[in-house]
Amino acid sequence: MAVKSHGTHTDDNHKALWSGRFAEGPDAAAVEFETSIFVDERMALDDIHGSMAHAEMLGACGIISKKESAEIIKGLKSIENDLGTGKLKIDYSAEDIHSFVEATLTDRIGEPGKKLHTGRSRNDQIALDERLYLKRIIPCLQNEIITLISTLTDIADKNKKTLLTGYTHMQHAQPGTLAQHLMAWATMLKRDWLRLEDSLKRVNLSPLGAGALQGSTLPLNREMVAKKLGFEGVTENSLDTSADRDYCIEFTSDFAILQSHLSRMCEEVVLWSTTEFAFIELSEKWSTGSSIMPQKKNPDFAELIRGRTGKVYGDLINLLTMVKGLPLAYDRDMQEDKAPLFEALDTVEGNLKVFTAMISSAKWNNANMASSCEGGFANATDLAEYLVRKGMPFRTAHTVSATAVRKAIDAGLTKIEDLCMEEFQQCSKLIEEDVYECLSPVACVEHRQTTGAPSSKTTSVQIRNMKAFCKKSTK
Ligand code: ARG
Repeated sequence: MAVKSHGTHTDDNHKALWSGRFAEGPDAAAVEFETSIFVDERMALDDIHGSMAHAEMLGACGIISKKESAEIIKGLKSIENDLGTGKLKIDYSAEDIHSFVEATLTDRIGEPGKKLHTGRSRNDQIALDERLYLKRIIPCLQNEIITLISTLTDIADKNKKTLLTGYTHMQHAQPGTLAQHLMAWATMLKRDWLRLEDSLKRVNLSPLGAGALQGSTLPLNREMVAKKLGFEGVTENSLDTSADRDYCIEFTSDFAILQSHLSRMCEEVVLWSTTEFAFIELSEKWSTGSSIMPQKKNPDFAELIRGRTGKVYGDLINLLTMVKGLPLAYDRDMQEDKAPLFEALDTVEGNLKVFTAMISSAKWNNANMASSCEGGFANATDLAEYLVRKGMPFRTAHTVSATAVRKAIDAGLTKIEDLCMEEFQQCSKLIEEDVYECLSPVACVEHRQTTGAPSSKTTSVQIRNMKAFCKKSTK
């Protein structure tokens, strides 16, 4: 069966927008190769809204009549409504979303539809669609980030005193709490939210009116379109506007950093779910089993999130490579920007939702987390700082504490505080009975009261600030 396409359409409205120059239609395989509607259809609404603003401006500037402008806007509105109700289906024989909207409009309103593309090129139109789409969708992604931050902050709030050792080099480092760890995750995600917010500022300029590359001879009012569409202003240089895909790269790099955070968090979830750590138990709803090993309960969802990192990083490299070496202005290579942008966006959005569901349904094993603070000499820094408080230079105190650790290891002990007073005194005369109350994991945590540190007092401040951030940042 012959596939209907912009290459074979005989009906004028549905021919390729550029068909006038050609005596012959393109090869069917050529059409299939270059068509982008399957990827850009998700920007249908943005394309329609952009066209409405453009038509209004054309009318207001006297480039088309007020009547024609009104008819175009009415026609576009009916397309928007019918797409919304499902009465109108996307026609995949169209070359791209722009062609589909324009052809449908002309089918519906006749001659005035042919005036819509006045003073416009698909080069500035696609840039407009992308910018409008990002302005519309990024706030939804930001809200997903806020949901996860709130989830983590709520768990932290209940676990300000739940001990959990901190690691560096995957070796016991210093005692901490579950709350401190979860607030570290939340803080990483807060930066991701802020990064998106910052990128939104740069995408917030209207490209429409840049035309194909050198603006227009018609008296277009770019500022009016920008205002109508909620942009802060217009882009500065028409050539740059036609060639610019920085916003795709910038958002995808934001996604890649966010994904790196999710991946690191998942790595910890996987590790913490092992029999050896057993800090966390994932719910059965968010675990899978094995087809051969009957006992298995695997953290596949954390692994899948972690595993999809390559996809998001790949999308970023894809975009960076796409623009490398492209001469100004528009080149068709740039059509290839949407697939990686959307794939990265969809992937991080899905990952955020799954991570939130997985972590909020998990159970925490407080006893195992608390025992992680024992046995690794994680309080050695605390002993050194105890001596600093007694007047010893830190470098000397470091050596004294290391001597105490050595002594304990040599005596087959697992904790510094298992040394008797006589043994402590052999390390330093400054060590007295009060050392014991400084060395318990609870004391080690509660004495860490610098801003951002894990004492319950300073964690409470972090939690309070993060809750306020979530409240003011929900869109
Ligand atoms: N589908 C194209 C894209 O996504 C739209 C612009 C087409 N422009 C052109 N000169 N062929 O980039």
